[in-house]
Amino acid sequence: MTQHDRLLIIDFGSQVTQLIARRLRELNVYCEIHPFNRVDEKFLASFAPRAVIFSGGPASVYAEGAPMPPKGVFDLGVPILGICYGQQVMMHCLGGKVEGGHGTAEFGRAFVTPTAERLPLLDGWFAEGDEQVWMSHGDHVSRIAPGFSVFGTSPNAPFAVTADPARRFFAVQFHPEVHHTPHGAKLYENFVRLAGFKGDWTMGAYRDEAIARIRDQVGGQKVICGLSGGVDSSVAAVLIHEAIGDQLTCVFVDHGLLRQGEAEQVVTMFRDTYNIPLIHADESDLFLSALEGVSDPEVKRKTIGKLFIDVFQKHATAVGGAKFLAQGTLYPDVIESVSFSGGPSVTIKSHHNVGGLPEKMGLKLVEPLRELFKDEVRALGRELGLPEPFIRRHPFPGPGLAIRCPGEITREKLAILRQADAVYIDQIRKHGLYDDIWQAFAAILPMKTVGVMGDGRTYDYALALRAVTSVDGMTADYYPFTHNFLGETATRIINEVRGVNRVFYDCTSKPPGTIELE
Ligand code: XMP
Repeated sequence: MTQHDRLLIIDFGSQVTQLIARRLRELNVYCEIHPFNRVDEKFLASFAPRAVIFSGGPASVYAEGAPMPPKGVFDLGVPILGICYGQQVMMHCLGGKVEGGHGTAEFGRAFVTPTAERLPLLDGWFAEGDEQVWMSHGDHVSRIAPGFSVFGTSPNAPFAVTADPARRFFAVQFHPEVHHTPHGAKLYENFVRLAGFKGDWTMGAYRDEAIARIRDQVGGQKVICGLSGGVDSSVAAVLIHEAIGDQLTCVFVDHGLLRQGEAEQVVTMFRDTYNIPLIHADESDLFLSALEGVSDPEVKRKTIGKLFIDVFQKHATAVGGAKFLAQGTLYPDVIESVSFSGGPSVTIKSHHNVGGLPEKMGLKLVEPLRELFKDEVRALGRELGLPEPFIRRHPFPGPGLAIRCPGEITREKLAILRQADAVYIDQIRKHGLYDDIWQAFAAILPMKTVGVMGDGRTYDYALALRAVTSVDGMTADYYPFTHNFLGETATRIINEVRGVNRVFYDCTSKPPGTIELE
């Protein structure tokens, strides 16, 4: 647990609750998101928040079983900010009234007009007239609770901004956390200032605290860490190494499904730059022979996942009595989301991770990044001196090129794919686009097509190029390359990579597509 002042976000199921946390972290304020049904008075007492935010949510306060805030939250004596459903539930609990009904729903852009009286929460607003905000509500507050006044109105939300300044309770109908409320960040800044946060959640401070915590947790025991070469496991490894030195051994598994030059890059950086004990497990024959003849995406993923565990176990035993397993788990993986449907979600893909491994091997987990978002991990990586190209690397999936080779995997296809991918990424870098793109890669399609090169007929593989923008990989949009870029890249690939005679660009967003092809 962190020693910083903490802000509690109570999640009522909004799609954008994580954005509230993002805005606060940008203000160097430590916050955690917890679902409404997992916080009670005991939790509030142990969490001891300096302020509380109620998120939005899809429910109606007057529906049966509507989500409610925990008992005692209004008696904590700390500032509370309610957003959208959070506003409605606050009014409902404190003696106001909420109604649904015709003609009052409001979705999308709206403009808030200030009332005569100014509210410190809105400092810096209205400098250029009415403020644009993003509304998304079916119900609305029809009577505010005793003690509250109105500080802003919009055409369909007469109570767009309400507050009881004496108790420091604030409630807004719109979503200040989204991009479409251009000055929403200012509102959060004002809120945390009013709550007395010092803004001391910095990566420098975090690094020192994390190191102390790791030492405390691990003592004199050995730790193993699976390195993928991605930024999360790399940052975790470097941080843990700083804390416990050679008690840490990293295992880098080369499953034969890595990109061009990848194994060398990762191994060199860890051995030369950091001097971190590293086992480079070249297990490509094992993986590739197990995958021979396998074309079903789920069978591929499960085969790879199982082999990873076997290999890891083999090397962990060799290290001699490791008691801990380090993982680069991030905060978004830890946040429990509220499910209103109640049912289990459908498995789209079996993601490879080391889940299940710790219990099987009798290991305890060390997860020093579990409080951080991806960009905070990158900031921590910089703090730890990781080379910039490593920090900015696009994500690369555990199953590697296997899921970029739909259908059967062969060494020939993998060799073609590696070369083509290297040309594509080189093109992206040369055009200065690498950092604008969340992830880019080539995939080799399970088909050959006819072409003509020189005076001859060709019958070669077709490639798909993929590039997406995204914030967290959950949703994504295809990257709008220029036609010139695409033409030049296709020409380079076909000229430089033998075995390819056709190149497609994938213009599918996610959903309905996924980022990887399998
Ligand atoms: P999809 O294809 O599900 O991918 O849209 C979303 C993000 O997750 C990555 N990905 C994986 N990462 N193990 C990983 O570590 C996996 O099994 C895996 N499958 C997909 C993918 O590269 C993208 O960034």
